[in-house]
Amino acid sequence: GMTHDLAGRRVLVTAGPTVEPLDPVRYLTNRSSGKTGYALARAAARRGAEVTLVSGPVALSAPEGVRTVHVESARDMLVAAEAAFATADIAVFSAAVADVRPKEVAAQKLKKGTEGVDLSTIELVENPDILATLAVRKRPEQVVVGFAAETNDVIANAQKKLSTKHADLIVGNEVGEGRAFGTDDNEVWFVSAEETYALPLMSKDRLADEILDKALQFFK
Ligand code: PMT
Repeated sequence: GMTHDLAGRRVLVTAGPTVEPLDPVRYLTNRSSGKTGYALARAAARRGAEVTLVSGPVALSAPEGVRTVHVESARDMLVAAEAAFATADIAVFSAAVADVRPKEVAAQKLKKGTEGVDLSTIELVENPDILATLAVRKRPEQVVVGFAAETNDVIANAQKKLSTKHADLIVGNEVGEGRAFGTDDNEVWFVSAEETYALPLMSKDRLADEILDKALQFFK
């Protein structure tokens, strides 16, 4: 609707992929376009919230009236999100954060056939889980929304993530090439401690409003 039902609320949104460098020219990343997170940030701003959008590298322009912080790696995203989380009323973690990163980042381009360089194996280490790290610090009056991107068993995996990541709501979605990642619409499940239900296929703009509507219910 046209209401400013988020006036006076602070909303944090993470969006897009993270990129994890291997050397100055190569990196690990994923297929997230940022469309979901940017739609959330726009919707929250339109509804009167003070919005911080922490975004990985995407091809979208920063939404008007939103404080947008651009980051690259998961560790940078954690630092930026951490600062905004402390004062957020609602935090929505829609970013597709890389679970791992190359253990070492070479200062120069790794060249095949060079002594000591083996391009056939890359040692990886785990990234911090931004949602889980911040949600354990959740104050009672904060609402935390996470996503679950799954290729299979969406509901069971989303229910698991609800508890392991300490979220109030998990938005479960089935992903794959041309599915959820990069598309303009999405078909999701809402999973909370009380209920699990499917939403119909809808635009990411509409989904953003549905998520914010649902988040507001936790304040009541
Ligand atoms: O950007 P789009 O093209 O619009 O695509 C939308 C989307 C597919 C990216 C989105 O709908 C979505 O599913 N986002 C979450 C992607 C993801 O990484 O899901 P996950 O199941 O791996 O992670 C679960 C939750 O933990 C997510 O809220 C994620 O942001 C968070 N997480 C995960 C790993 C990590 N290291 N830190 C995190 O905060």
